[in-house]
Amino acid sequence: MLKAAVIGLGVIGKVHISAIESLENAKLVAACDIDPDRNVNLPHGVAFYTDYGEMLRREKPDVAHICLPHFLHYPAAKKFAEAGINVFTEKPLALNAAEGEEYCKLENQYGVKICLCFQNRLNSTTEALHKILQSGEYGKVTGIRGSVAWYRSKHYYEEGPWRGIMAQSGGGVMTNQAIHTLDLIQYFAGSPATRVKGSIGQVLDYGVEVEDTATGRISFANGATGFFTASIGNFADENVEINVFCEKGAFAIRDNKLFCIDGDKEEALASNSSDYAGKAVYGNSHVKLIDTFYKVLENGSGWYIHPEEGLPSLRIIDAIRESSRTGKTVNF
Ligand SMILES: NC(=O)c1ccc[n+]([C@@H]2O[C@H](COP(=O)([O-])OP(=O)(O)OC[C@H]3O[C@@H](n4cnc5c(N)ncnc54)[C@H](O)[C@@H]3O)[C@@H](O)[C@H]2O)c1
Repeated sequence: MLKAAVIGLGVIGKVHISAIESLENAKLVAACDIDPDRNVNLPHGVAFYTDYGEMLRREKPDVAHICLPHFLHYPAAKKFAEAGINVFTEKPLALNAAEGEEYCKLENQYGVKICLCFQNRLNSTTEALHKILQSGEYGKVTGIRGSVAWYRSKHYYEEGPWRGIMAQSGGGVMTNQAIHTLDLIQYFAGSPATRVKGSIGQVLDYGVEVEDTATGRISFANGATGFFTASIGNFADENVEINVFCEKGAFAIRDNKLFCIDGDKEEALASNSSDYAGKAVYGNSHVKLIDTFYKVLENGSGWYIHPEEGLPSLRIIDAIRESSRTGKTVNF
């Protein structure tokens, strides 16, 4: 039985708690939040702390789940790794690529395993499309478009002020919401980004420091072109859309289904379950990824999402931000 601790009991911390509770090989032993009022509805027998340093001194969990504001991801992971504790961390890996590179040293330095929560990589639609692209049956990938059109109210920033402060969040819609889509764009491209031109701004009038809208054109080393648009200024949360064009075919992930597109004919190839934990926009793969990671911890080996997988999206975000500031293309 693996002993788990969850640090940060806000919106996503609860999703982690219910995921851990659903696993047969895991037991939640401790939880931590600096806000003592967040010590509600914890399962019976779970120790609550307001200081994760204190929690570390008293508990020895096998895994610490980091569900904290972005500026705390790296320092918290370092502290747990130093104590020999494995980490399951929420996205983004870090505030930016430079901090992410430091983060990537932790697994080897301290001999622990760290899994990054890019849960959408485990969606049935993602898995099916990635397998098709890897097979080469449709030729090379030539273009990928990813679009996120969601809505976040002013209240969203009021209940978590860190989300609107650049030094604490590292960014807005790109870093917080659309990083999953940027990750999938580069994952489907299957090649490193070489050039990025982009633009960021605000279409909402919330008085926060971070962008609510972004667009970017990404060139990949294998010749594929990525086009990314994201905003939380839409009227509602619409489904994320990802279109992938190959030399001999085209695919779309839309409405939680994967379609193969042939002219005006569409064939559904896979669909995601609608059994969501938390908001529908998070998808339903948190449990799947946590379960995958815990099995690796039990068996001592196996596939999971290493911190290095979090770097490409951070590099693209940094480049879009830089390009928007200078008006120039960023070459890697
Ligand atoms: N994977 C996903 O789809 C997904 C979805 C939502 C959020 N997230 C990520 O989850 C993380 C948390 O986001 P959220 O929306 O739940 O934020 P939140 O503000 O709702 O929760 C963060 C919690 O951390 C607590 N906290 C702050 N500093 C602390 C400290 N030093 N020690 C202990 N607790 C502390 C806060 O009191 C708060 O309860 C972010 O990284 C976010 O990007 C991921």
